[in-house]
Amino acid sequence: MLPILRYPDPRLHKKAAKVTVVDESIRKLAADMAETMYAAPGIGLAATQVDVHKQVIVIDVSEDKSGLVTFIDPEIVELFGECEGEEGCLSVPGIYDRVTRAQRVKVRALGVDGQSFELEAEGLLGACIQHEMDHLQGKLFVEYLSRLKQDRIKSRLAKKARITA
Ligand code: NI
Repeated sequence: MLPILRYPDPRLHKKAAKVTVVDESIRKLAADMAETMYAAPGIGLAATQVDVHKQVIVIDVSEDKSGLVTFIDPEIVELFGECEGEEGCLSVPGIYDRVTRAQRVKVRALGVDGQSFELEAEGLLGACIQHEMDHLQGKLFVEYLSRLKQDRIKSRLAKKARITA
């Protein structure tokens, strides 16, 4: 289990570096991230959220932990359409809001075996891929919301941190 950074931690805004070579340390990172995501519980986690600034994402939108996908050095190949959906984030606990994203996404990445693969996704998986790829660029879903909403979320989370501290 890895500790998850919480908004507004400035380390969440760091840009992740390319991995390029998938070695044992990256496979270990991906496995630890998956375990952390399942325990949270969540459907996606970017390395940025565990303070490792490398382009690694794990996602599983299945209900029985059967759909784990690891994306290393993911790149958007194509985006199609637009749709709005409600999102939350393990780094912004208890906050949910609507975000507009591409309706469908085609992404290219390396798997844990170091092999390149392409995947086209829509719905929950498509939105999740875009959400996690934003994390690697140092961007959180709350940054799509109004400044007023962002300030409210910050003060709400600061209050919660004081209570739980
Ligand atoms: Ni997130």
